[in-house]
Amino acid sequence: MTARAAVLSGLGGYLPPRTVTNEELSARIDTSDEWIRRRTGIRRRHVADPGVSTGDLAVEAGHRALKSAGLGTADTVDMVIMATSTPDHPLPATAPDVAARLGLGPAAAFDMAAGCSGFVYALATATAALVAGHAERVLVIGAEVFSTVLNPADRGTAVIFGDGAGAVVLRAGTTDEPGAVLAVDLGADGTGRDLATIPDGGSRQRATGREPHPDGHYIHMRGKEIFVQAVHGMERSSAAALDKAGWNVGQIDHVVGHQANLRILHSLAQQLGVDRQRVVSHIEEAGNTAAASIPLALADAAARNRFRPHDRLLLTAFGAGLAWGSIALTWPPITPA
Ligand code: ACO
Repeated sequence: MTARAAVLSGLGGYLPPRTVTNEELSARIDTSDEWIRRRTGIRRRHVADPGVSTGDLAVEAGHRALKSAGLGTADTVDMVIMATSTPDHPLPATAPDVAARLGLGPAAAFDMAAGCSGFVYALATATAALVAGHAERVLVIGAEVFSTVLNPADRGTAVIFGDGAGAVVLRAGTTDEPGAVLAVDLGADGTGRDLATIPDGGSRQRATGREPHPDGHYIHMRGKEIFVQAVHGMERSSAAALDKAGWNVGQIDHVVGHQANLRILHSLAQQLGVDRQRVVSHIEEAGNTAAASIPLALADAAARNRFRPHDRLLLTAFGAGLAWGSIALTWPPITPA
């Protein structure tokens, strides 16, 4: 039985042009190209130039997604949702500014912070708005300038994160169309709040009257603990999304997991019982771009013609919060811009 659904109709990714190689990092911190490649799969990451913000990258990716969806200036979207943990300012949200710069006002526009799961949360929210009839077309952007919250001396974070933005357009359609979002699973566990945190800059630090700590505006991450939780969390969430979609593991054509670490993606594939060939990875080129990682991986794989219309995709993410989520969708006949 067909029903109203959110359907993917446009896709775009943007990486800032400047890259930082593992060799460049090894020249200033105690690490090596060999260690980074072997332990994470990353070869380089893209870094925004000084003065370039998350909103700037989001405008680039948003523009490309709108173009890919074939939307001209006469067309509009009703809603812009921006997933980010590195917004341009604590106030206002970055999405209204991005919407205005894309000529999309007066669309509803707001930010969502769910760490590395931000894009999946935003996609789920857009899907709910479309299915409920509150919107006919939604632009969802995942964008980060994580380089602004990296302690250059912390090798546990400096080697894995990068900057970038990816975006999709969703439109109202039906469940039988290729591109339809067919199942969503979301979850969170705030008792793991300390596993990945930027301690200062919010009301907690200000409310205590404590002076900001010199390292307080940097991300602090207990990488090994998140690694283990990420594999199990994404496995559980993926199974829940597959169950809701009525798919079995053997029916998945592509697993597009959050790009934190290639070893996490391979462990997830093993736990799920999915062949590694079906795991999509863009991590070698971009590192961990947090909320931007899944749309960037989608745009990269689509540009390489890896997906065919009607292919079955499983998106799954895990990150700070702790927050996780998975989405099952089919692939539409679109070309990324
Ligand atoms: N270069 C060289 N050696 C290193 C480096 C480095 N960059 N980092 C750690 N090491 C060393 C450690 O000191 C340790 O040495 P020892 O054995 O002599 O003590 C050894 O390598 C192993 O250290 P681990 O911390 O166990 O390294 P691990 O293999 O776990 O890799 C990493 C670290 C890459 C951070 C990994 O844990 C990871 O990817 N975690 C997941 C991160 C993630 O998913 N984040 C998403 C959430 S964040 C968000 O939502 C924004």
